[in-house]
Amino acid sequence: MNPVYEKLMRCYNSVREKIDFQPEIALVLGSGLGDYGETIDVVATLDYNEIEGFPVSTVDGHKGRFIFGYVKGVSVVCMQGRVHYYEGYPMTDVVLPTRLMKLLGAKVLFLTNASGGLNYEFSAGDFMMITDHIMNFVPSPLIGQNIDELGTRFPDMSDIYKKDLQEIIRKTAKDLQIKLQEGVYIQLTGPNFETPTEVKMCRILGADAAGMSTAAEAVAANHMGMKVCGISCITNLGCGMLEQPLSHIEVKETADRVADEFKALVTQCIVNIHQAM
Ligand code: HPA
Repeated sequence: MNPVYEKLMRCYNSVREKIDFQPEIALVLGSGLGDYGETIDVVATLDYNEIEGFPVSTVDGHKGRFIFGYVKGVSVVCMQGRVHYYEGYPMTDVVLPTRLMKLLGAKVLFLTNASGGLNYEFSAGDFMMITDHIMNFVPSPLIGQNIDELGTRFPDMSDIYKKDLQEIIRKTAKDLQIKLQEGVYIQLTGPNFETPTEVKMCRILGADAAGMSTAAEAVAANHMGMKVCGISCITNLGCGMLEQPLSHIEVKETADRVADEFKALVTQCIVNIHQAM
């Protein structure tokens, strides 16, 4: 058997030995949504290190566990802490949790993250609905022998962030009177932030926000036939766009400042997406 698939199935069996919960929506919590767990009616939690063979996240502030439960009655599995490529894991490990959540039953993947705004129309604290992505600067998670059990060798990527989900998110933000930007997310390796010239390059390529996650997860989910949507919290403007240097502290401070609004938006989007399922 393909070793990547074998590892995935080992993790799946390890989870299913402990938990039989059937989520409908999978949610990945980025910076700023770290305490979103408090808004979930929790049925069970599972630390990543309790799952045999699971890649364990090392980033400061990322707790590293699955939360199973309900958001206003909608069954969800929620990743509190993701696995990043810059931690040194191969891309197949980075997307293992995404694939696992699909196997557990989730049909929709709701991605969130923190990112740097590249578009001069954006301000720190804005939310950006992801309409498409660029991930050519990191390896595709689909490199290697194709896992036919999950999806096809050459999957179409013309409609990753589903238009109908985009419309629901757009309308939800409007109803909640939350300003919502839209744009293209570019995934870079990190962990260093970009140079001013790299920021300029990304903008020329057509990106509106830069980050270190998300796109690979979206590709793996799309490969498996999940419906994907995503919202990015613009925690800062890209390096060189303002005078001051950029720090992880600034990223965290902005994310924390708008966390309540972000949580409200995500919660109502989940409700509205579920209603349309
Ligand atoms: N660049 C990349 N990743 C990020 C940034 C950024 O400016 N801000 C938050 N995550």
